Amino acid sequence: MRKEIKTGIPGLDEMLGGGLPEGSVTVISGPPGIGKSNLAMQYIYNGIMQYDEPGVYITIEEGIEDIEEYAGKFGWNLRACENNGKLAILGREIFEGTDMDLGILKDIINKINAKRVVLDSLTLFNYLFKEETARRLHILRFLEIMKKSRCTTIMTAEQQGNLLDIQYHAEHFLSDGLMMLFWSRYKANNERCVWVVKIRGNKINSDIRPVKITNEGVVVYPKEVPFTLVKYGGAGFS
Ligand SMILES: Nc1ncnc2c1ncn2[C@@H]1O[C@H](COP(=O)(O)OP(=O)(O)OP(=O)(O)O)[C@@H](O)[C@H]1O
Ligand SMILES: [Mg+2]
Repeated sequence: MRKEIKTGIPGLDEMLGGGLPEGSVTVISGPPGIGKSNLAMQYIYNGIMQYDEPGVYITIEEGIEDIEEYAGKFGWNLRACENNGKLAILGREIFEGTDMDLGILKDIINKINAKRVVLDSLTLFNYLFKEETARRLHILRFLEIMKKSRCTTIMTAEQQGNLLDIQYHAEHFLSDGLMMLFWSRYKANNERCVWVVKIRGNKINSDIRPVKITNEGVVVYPKEVPFTLVKYGGAGFS
């Protein structure tokens, strides 16, 4: 039996059919500000604090200090995790230069014995390369390292278009798992929602469920129906 890597995010593991299969790669897509980075960091932080599974968080755009400060608002002390050798936060430098082998990443994964990796975000990662060939080689190399090291990986991605007319990209098909965060809207009301589209090998709950960002982080409500559906009998999702 494959091991399920628990996200520890309230309500989410139930939706995923137990968690993320060990060594799998999952894409979390959604529009700006929906909570992709929060969810991804919470996955890493919970891994360290609840499951003793060290993690690597790769940020392409945001500064490392900003991430630490932002996490602090949820009460997550990332500095302490880094000092204890359980967390490494890396910037886009690891993909720059001539190191196509991504040796720095490999070394850090080995050094802290990482079990979880986040790439935030795949969309911005794609912008790092002028040449399509270099971009593809880097992503393939990245995925190869994840598979070889048995790291369970989350990649965030920007999602364009609305839920009824999704623009699917190669990464949606390449990944083992896919979940979408999106806004459900009716008149002046907006609510965050999640749709677990696929987790290869798991019996998922693929119904649309509400999500909230609280002072403790992301919370999923696997037994509740989005308020727009309850109150208004099914609103157009956008
Ligand atoms: N305590 C809180 N309560 C409610 N919402 C919060 C709280 N803290 C942060 N947020 C919200 O979380 C959202 C930011 O989430 P996050 O940075 O994860 O989004 P994102 O999907 O990664 O966006 P982007 O695509 O721009 O990177 C913001 O909209 C912010 O308002
Ligand atoms: Mg983000």
